[in-house]
Amino acid sequence: MAYTNNRLFSVNTKGKKIFSITESNFVDSKLTRRSTPVRDFPKVGRVSWLYHHIVRPVLFTQDSERIHNHTLAALGWASRQSASLRAANDFYAAQELPVELFGLRFPNPIGLAAGMDKQAAAVPMWAALGFGFSELGGVTWHAQSGNELPRMFRAVADGALVNRMGFNNSGADAMAARLAEWQTSSRWPKHPVGVNLGKSKVTPLDKAAEDYANSFRALRPYADFFVVNVSSPNTPNLRQLQDKAALDEILSEIQRINSDGTGTLKPILVKVAPDLTFEALDEILELAGPRNLAGIVATNTTIVRPETKDAASLRTYAETGGLSGAPLRVRSTEIIRHLHRQTKGSLPIIGVGGVFNASDAWEKIAAGASLVQVYTGLVYEGPSIAKNIVSGLQRKLTERGLKNLRDAVGIGD
Ligand SMILES: Cc1cc2nc3c(=O)[nH]c(=O)nc-3n(C[C@H](O)[C@H](O)[C@H](O)COP(=O)(O)O)c2cc1C
Repeated sequence: MAYTNNRLFSVNTKGKKIFSITESNFVDSKLTRRSTPVRDFPKVGRVSWLYHHIVRPVLFTQDSERIHNHTLAALGWASRQSASLRAANDFYAAQELPVELFGLRFPNPIGLAAGMDKQAAAVPMWAALGFGFSELGGVTWHAQSGNELPRMFRAVADGALVNRMGFNNSGADAMAARLAEWQTSSRWPKHPVGVNLGKSKVTPLDKAAEDYANSFRALRPYADFFVVNVSSPNTPNLRQLQDKAALDEILSEIQRINSDGTGTLKPILVKVAPDLTFEALDEILELAGPRNLAGIVATNTTIVRPETKDAASLRTYAETGGLSGAPLRVRSTEIIRHLHRQTKGSLPIIGVGGVFNASDAWEKIAAGASLVQVYTGLVYEGPSIAKNIVSGLQRKLTERGLKNLRDAVGIGD
């Protein structure tokens, strides 16, 4: 399998087709469908209005990664000030909509997706901003600087991002030290914290299991759950590790450490690409029982590009990397629906891809997701996103006469 200028040849090294994307359907009209145009802002509160009309236009005049880094630095600083955390909580706290999963209690089902806080810089802030859980990282065993700049691009008219960050992070030991610091402070969040594990670029594919296992060993005491990320398009050949045999080796190694009796057993999930064929997904599901998987995170970014007439978006789509945001929504929901159907709902799914509002989140839950994450939605909708989605979900449950969110999981419409 090989990537050239974003194009994926759909045959892996053993001649087996695991990706659904071929050059002929590389531009996919399905990726352009969305429920709510991202430029419609119905019934947003005053804080959301300010974000959309004042804050976002100013932020979007600058380079995406620069703004991302400044925002993270500010949130990191604010995370160390009790008054700032209290103020964030006063503005953005979401109502309780609890979910019990993997033996953990999530105060609400809306989480922060991997990639936003790669260095565990603002751990307490995500709970103060109303998120029901956070997934930190991706982190790799070796510290690495990632790909050359620029590597993050906006397609504003389409509510999308393209990134080729390449797991820029300070390494698993540095992340462990930072998490240990947060844990000994009085500010550790009252929500589950997960860590997303990636493969170091310098580690060859046949040594991947050891690389993931080293990170897991270092970070195991500090997180409530772990996500094995074999689906980022930005580390050369990483997605080949979604092949059943390769993934089996990684999961065996992690579970061997997990069950060595020296610590509590941590839930292990796998994050999949939206570009896999259903057959390849089914092969991954065959590992769920033998490798004691707690669930699947569906999905990562896609290498497919939507059709668009917007010239600026077209320029962004010409960049190499993974596409996230509104155009990904439909495909990621299809994957969730397939996984839920195949497992008859027995394997928990964290749904992620193009969630901007409560209808988008409901679509994921109705397709089979027990929890939902956002990344691009946070960039476009601002810090009220978790609070707004949770209250919208509560309204939907009341309308349907449902008591608990779990009654809506896989409900099918
Ligand atoms: C800039 C950026 C960096 C990301 N980094 C990671 C990562 O390190 N690990 C990972 O599993 N996913 C990563 N993702 C993917 C997101 O976690 C998420 O799966 C994807 O963006 C789809 O969700 P969204 O449409 O809400 O953004 C990243 C996404 C973006 C935009």
